[in-house]
Amino acid sequence: PRIALLCGGPSGEREVSLASAAAVRRALEAAGVRVVAIDIEPQRIQEQLAQSGAEFVFNVCHGQFGEDGVLQACLEASGLPYTGSGVLASALAMDKWRSKRLWQAAGLPTTRGQWLQREHVTGGSPCGQSSADELHIARWPVFVKPNRAGSSLGISRVENAAGLAEAMAKAFAVDSEILVEEAVDGLEATVGIVAGRTLPPIVIRPHRAFYDYEAKYLADDTEYLLPSGLPTATERRLQELALQAFRELGGRDWGRVDFLVDAEGGIHLLELNAVPGMTDHSLVPMAARALGWTMTKLCLEIVSTAQR
Ligand code: DAL
Ligand code: MG
Repeated sequence: PRIALLCGGPSGEREVSLASAAAVRRALEAAGVRVVAIDIEPQRIQEQLAQSGAEFVFNVCHGQFGEDGVLQACLEASGLPYTGSGVLASALAMDKWRSKRLWQAAGLPTTRGQWLQREHVTGGSPCGQSSADELHIARWPVFVKPNRAGSSLGISRVENAAGLAEAMAKAFAVDSEILVEEAVDGLEATVGIVAGRTLPPIVIRPHRAFYDYEAKYLADDTEYLLPSGLPTATERRLQELALQAFRELGGRDWGRVDFLVDAEGGIHLLELNAVPGMTDHSLVPMAARALGWTMTKLCLEIVSTAQR
């Protein structure tokens, strides 16, 4: 069967997606699968799918359009089976604030954040809420993030009130909604999920202020701990929480859940990535390798779970 590998697209993570696609293509072709890579164009997507003659879609688009439910709706309309979460779970996973709200409602531990909308910060809003001055920040530093983006685009770590306005402007340049979150002193950890099972947790030690775009894709001094070095009970808890967080948003097939682990071993959910990076630097392929899975095995697992 021929597989359409959807990648690229209009988001700020386009380059990451092209790198993910190159790795997935190599892996699938090594197993003799016929792959047609498609650099997606929102207005022509149905035509592109039809022209490809593919019977199945492997989606490695990251970020806006490709990972946020919009492409998934196009795929539903096309009738083609595809890898990864459906429309609602993808839209929720891309939305850090609404993910947090659902996780809180389910009693899952997540970082504390405040949510701001651009029109309520920069314009005199009719509701008159949420101006930057009204933020209640109990503890510095904070992270300022676009609500719906990936690969750390538009994220800043802010040490004190003096840096807040610039960081907010940077995040608002990416999205009309932003989050201001108290920083958790600790380690970043991540758990991949494939076909209903969790991969071994990885702890990330960026040699920078945080695990930003540079540390993710460009730097070669970012340290990945695998085994994570965390106590076994913490690892198990991370894996349990990853599955719960995934199910709570309605995730399907595969994904990756990111966490912070504080100095006392407390765990805080950050986000679910519905289409995690698959580049040579990326975390899901790294965790799969620790299980003895090649990249080909990983990609075939994702395909077969999506076909069930
Ligand atoms: N958003 C990037 C691709 C990741 O989560 O790996
Ligand atoms: Mg992300």
